[in-house]
Amino acid sequence: MAFTIAIDGPAAAGKGTISRAVAEHFGFAHLDTGLLYRAVGRKMLDGTAPIEAAQSLVAEDLENPTLRSPEVAQAASKVAVIPEVRAALVDFQRAFARRAGGAVLDGRDIGTVICPEAEAKLFVTASAEVRARRRHLELAEKDADVDFDTVLADVRERDERDMNRADAPLKPADDAVTIDTTDLDIDSAVRAAINAITARKGTP
Ligand code: DC
Repeated sequence: MAFTIAIDGPAAAGKGTISRAVAEHFGFAHLDTGLLYRAVGRKMLDGTAPIEAAQSLVAEDLENPTLRSPEVAQAASKVAVIPEVRAALVDFQRAFARRAGGAVLDGRDIGTVICPEAEAKLFVTASAEVRARRRHLELAEKDADVDFDTVLADVRERDERDMNRADAPLKPADDAVTIDTTDLDIDSAVRAAINAITARKGTP
C-alpha cells in the first residue's frame, strides 16, 4: 500500500527530527529531499555545473560527510532555484513517495509540487530566531566556531531565497496542517505531527 506523508517547512524548524520520528512511528521509509539539493550543491562547489550534477546524481553522492555544513546548505539553496536542477530530481522523489509500505518525504515543495496527492501534509515552521538558536546549538555541539548573528543571517538569507524563487517556492500547501514549533519541545512537536496525520486520514 502506498501512503505518502509530505512534510515541508523552512530550514531548522524541526522537519528532520519530526520526519524521522513520524517514519518510525508508522513504519514508513523516510527521504530527506534536502540531501539531494545539498549533494548537487556540494558538486557545484567542487566544480561540476549544477544541472549536470543533478542529472548524474548517484546514491553515494548522498553520503558525502560535508553535506550538513553551512557552506553546502547555502550552495543547495542556490542550485535549488534552477528549474532544470529541480526537474532532474522529480522522478526519483515521486518513485520514493509511491513505494509500497508508505513514505515520509521532507523538504520545501513536497506537498505543493512533488506529491500534491499526498495522503497527509504538514508544514513545520518556527520563528527565525528560534530556528537560528537551535542551529547554533547544534553547530556549537560539533565544535564549529560560528556566532549566533552569522547563523541567524544565514537562516534569513536561505528563507528569503527559498520563499521567493519562481519555481516551486517554499509555501504551505492549501491542505497542509501547520505545526509551529517555536514554543514546542521535540516530544510535543512529534506528538502534534502524529496526531495531525492520524486525524487527517485515519491510521495509515
Ligand atoms: O532541508 P535542507 O536545509 O537540507 O535543504 C537545503 C536546501 O535545499 C534548501 O535551502 C532549499 C533546497 N531544497 C529545496 O529547494 N526543495 C526541497 N524539497 C528540499 C530542499
